[in-house]
Amino acid sequence: MNKNETIIMKSKPLIKESVENLKNRCSALKQEGIIPTMKVILVGDNPASLLYTRNKKKFIENLGAECEIIKLPSDLKEDDFLDHVADIVSDPSVHGCFVQLPLPKHLAHINVGELIPPYKDVDGFNKFNVMNLYQGEKGEGALIPCTPKGIVTICNYYGIEIENKNITIVGRSLIVGKPLSLLLTNHNATVSLCHSKTQNLKDHTKQADIIIMAIGSAKFLTRDYLSDSKSQAIIDVGMNQDAEGKLCGDTDFHNIKDHVSAITPVPGGIGPMTILSLAQNLLQAAEKSL
Ligand code: GUN
Repeated sequence: MNKNETIIMKSKPLIKESVENLKNRCSALKQEGIIPTMKVILVGDNPASLLYTRNKKKFIENLGAECEIIKLPSDLKEDDFLDHVADIVSDPSVHGCFVQLPLPKHLAHINVGELIPPYKDVDGFNKFNVMNLYQGEKGEGALIPCTPKGIVTICNYYGIEIENKNITIVGRSLIVGKPLSLLLTNHNATVSLCHSKTQNLKDHTKQADIIIMAIGSAKFLTRDYLSDSKSQAIIDVGMNQDAEGKLCGDTDFHNIKDHVSAITPVPGGIGPMTILSLAQNLLQAAEKSL
């Protein structure tokens, strides 16, 4: 490959390698009489959530583990929702569980991480798992949130160093931006956590070695946010629709790809990494149950 050619950080080759490892771990557990089992709680008919949960189930079943999607009606009463979740998480044959977000409006105030015991919380949303990140990952057996974990995994795979780097994250969500800022800090990066109210955003993106886009705004990051060095790496967490209804990220991929050293595509970049992390967390949880 030409030395100056941009690396397109596809998740596929990494996932192919990781799947072999996960299948082996799954077989080893089965020999001990444990079938790694995930339950997914899905409330309502949000089409994107239906698609994401089906993709997660397919990936997990391909490893030889079990995954059931429990579909609940969108008009479910809060007490009934809480009862369902309590029943599912108390089942000793379930090693991992999560509630697909977003929840319908009348349930959206519920902090789902707190409904799931920390050692089954494969999303990493429970206080115990959040505190683990906060305290520098000292919690034995703690689970790391999936998208942040997937970002570190893909950076390692493509040789994008994190330690001692300046990393600008754009987006402060509870699922990605905030936990990611802690995880990268634990890996000795210097992190700028930017958001919709950040003044002079371009100053933050231009000085970064790595820019991580997680704001949910189609093709937001254009060439004028970049330095002239062509040495920056871009991680795109966005899953948006462009004007033609096609899936696109938070970066204007074709506008910037020749002006950076490496970039994750959408689709085929961080989306599958989130699913890989979920499967890794399930196996970690099942192994811990031994
Ligand atoms: N909806 C979008 N991303 C996620 C995620 O990582 N976990 C859950 N539970 N719901 C989501």
